[in-house]
Amino acid sequence: MSVVLVTGGSGFIGSHTCLILLENGFDVIVLDSFLNSSPRSIDRVKALIGNSDINKRLTIIEGDIRDYNLIDKVFENREQIGNSIDAVIHFAGVKAISESINNPLKYWDINVNGTCTLLSAMNKHNCKTIVFSSSATVYGSPQTLPISESEKVNPENPYGHSKAAIEQMLSDLYQTSCSDWKIAILRYFNPIGSHASGLLGEHPIGKPANLFPLISQVAAGRLKSLKVFGADWDSPDGTAIRDYIHVMDLADGHIAALNYLLTHEFSYLKLNLGTGKGYSVLEVISEFEKISGKRVPFEVVSKRKGDVAISVADSSLAKSKLNWCPTRSLTDCCVDGWKWQLLNPIGYS
Ligand code: WQD
Repeated sequence: MSVVLVTGGSGFIGSHTCLILLENGFDVIVLDSFLNSSPRSIDRVKALIGNSDINKRLTIIEGDIRDYNLIDKVFENREQIGNSIDAVIHFAGVKAISESINNPLKYWDINVNGTCTLLSAMNKHNCKTIVFSSSATVYGSPQTLPISESEKVNPENPYGHSKAAIEQMLSDLYQTSCSDWKIAILRYFNPIGSHASGLLGEHPIGKPANLFPLISQVAAGRLKSLKVFGADWDSPDGTAIRDYIHVMDLADGHIAALNYLLTHEFSYLKLNLGTGKGYSVLEVISEFEKISGKRVPFEVVSKRKGDVAISVADSSLAKSKLNWCPTRSLTDCCVDGWKWQLLNPIGYS
């Protein structure tokens, strides 16, 4: 069966995707620095898969994608046992918009330099199939809504610039004359929620930057209250609107993209993965309060640098190309996310 190297595979989206890969018969190698994740997520994946040969089918290597010699050895070791890596799903990177504004070089080094190192090693070992974790942040403030892939790439923060730079790197690679690369660039909107078992979930190291884990921790009493960044946006209730997609729908999208690449010649896909439905900050708070039965106290403060008013996906291309369609609702995200929070009050720690 195909062997997939998953960089950042112990992270939030990575661990959920590893689970689906294994359920679909792939063998998985996780490469992760644990900079912003815990290896315990992979223990949970093993527990969920449960069967006896899981330790042969799922291996985990601690390492940094900027370490060329390490990645080279990972590929080489698999070749020596006659079980070469067939494809890479590349999640490893840093992704906090506000942090990127304060520390841009960290984002250019880890995200861009790291990806260049990974691609060089892949090229050397003739592994030319990659699914890349990109982001709707590359669009910046969209001109049209919902946002389609034809929207101008115009990032407004170093995180978005780093993702756009990697997309350009992949495009250049594909355009080279002798290209036999197969590339899927997946632009996520806002991934939230958890596996329905409550065993896998989002485990931000330190205080979360994203809305959903913050709401969850306020509801659980880990944090006192939530700061709402602006209530004077151009939206029905004045708070910013995002396209929140269940992490399991996102994981399914990765498998669909991988299967597409494995069954087609020389592909280059750039696809939005979102639901097409936008919810405001206040709507998410209200839904979470309803599901959890807990209050989420908040205070309105000034807008956060780098934020946009509305970001909602047109994912029709992913639906037509991959026959992929998100199936879970905001309610499902809140139910699953709250179960994760209750079962894991301090994440994987
Ligand atoms: C959502 C909304 C905030 C925190 C995210 C990730 C980024 C990328 C794209 C993957 C916004 C508001 C938030 C808070 C708030 N993901 N908010 N109070 O900014 O859309 O970007 O998706 O690539 O990595 O950051 O997500 O969850 O930070 O914010 O009011 O304490 O919630 O203003 O409108 P964002 P977010």
